[in-house]
Amino acid sequence: MAKQITEHVSWVGKVDWELTRFHGDEYSTHRGSSYNSYLVRDEKVALIDTVWQPYDREFVSRLKQEIDLKAIDYIVMNHNEIDHSGALPELMREIPDTPIYCTKKGEAIIRGHYHQDWNFVNVKTGDTLPLGKHSLTFVEMTMLHWPDSMLSYFDGDGGIVFSNDAFGQHFATESLYNDKVVEADLMYEAEKYYANILNLYSPLVTKKIQQILAMNLSIAMICPSHGVIWKDNPTQIVEKYLAWADAYQENQVTIVYDTMWQSTRKMAEAIADGIREAQPDTTVKVLNITHDDKNDVITEIWRSKAVLVGSPTINYGHSFAIAGLLEMMKGLKLKKKKAASFGSYGWSGDAVKQLTAKLQEAGFEVVNDGIAKLWMPDEQNLDDCKAYGREFAQSL
Ligand code: FEO
Repeated sequence: MAKQITEHVSWVGKVDWELTRFHGDEYSTHRGSSYNSYLVRDEKVALIDTVWQPYDREFVSRLKQEIDLKAIDYIVMNHNEIDHSGALPELMREIPDTPIYCTKKGEAIIRGHYHQDWNFVNVKTGDTLPLGKHSLTFVEMTMLHWPDSMLSYFDGDGGIVFSNDAFGQHFATESLYNDKVVEADLMYEAEKYYANILNLYSPLVTKKIQQILAMNLSIAMICPSHGVIWKDNPTQIVEKYLAWADAYQENQVTIVYDTMWQSTRKMAEAIADGIREAQPDTTVKVLNITHDDKNDVITEIWRSKAVLVGSPTINYGHSFAIAGLLEMMKGLKLKKKKAASFGSYGWSGDAVKQLTAKLQEAGFEVVNDGIAKLWMPDEQNLDDCKAYGREFAQSL
């Protein structure tokens, strides 16, 4: 069912309650997601974005219940990753000549995915599309988070920002608005989304938000392409983004490890004890990368001022799961975070050196050479780990 959100704007997207994995298996979606599409009706009608391909027929059929498709004058594609452009082929079968407004890169991406010669109109920052009494203005959001990304601003109804992925959350809800859901759940999903998808583009986030703020736009709502619409104090999420983009950290240390026979786990817990002794006000989280969700672990690391990564030595290397986590940590370009490594071993003991090198390569400020213990740690070894935790805390 379509949902009217303002005089001129209706939500016509799809809430995906069943989604558990996004971007293949790269991102966990514990609370599902939504693919938000909007109809803007003035003297002319614009459809903003579509939905993911598995819901293409459902989307088009529900859209037909809301409007005669031939009454859609323009399609605006703010971003053309498959979760938003996936229903275009089904829609364009019905209205093949309708112009598609998108960036030049957007056209290239649509052509690259669907191999169709549709009626593309390329737009740039500052271009406007008059709809009657009101207009849409486009702002390129290059690399936030794809080369084609853009934002559309509607100057009716107090000002509506259609921001696509920016300010989104993977969060299924029928309630639609930010003040109609549990705030802690919403903010966790917004943080997880920023940490895992947008953090590496933080310098661009700051620059782009400053550019948009300088436009002095009136903003009644921010309508992203996933999750809730920011209606109650809508710019709160913009302020959050500015804070998150500025090497965000809380007074938290995250210890993440893998373990084969519990030796590295015991080391992790002893190190945590040492940190708590030295810094009782610091939140310390101890996470097992094979039990805890990788994207939740990344969110905890993103919140932290420091991280300790532990792995046993296996096959003269380190664990498969820790290797994957370190690859994610490197890709997200986390800034101003201290780090060190630890792990147990039986003979060669290569893991700690490898973890230290990978943490440095990932841009962390490594504060020492790490700690390694042979076989199962005894009381003395655990005391050493506790002392190591105290020293680590003192170096922060
Ligand atoms: Fe929600 Fe980048 O697609």
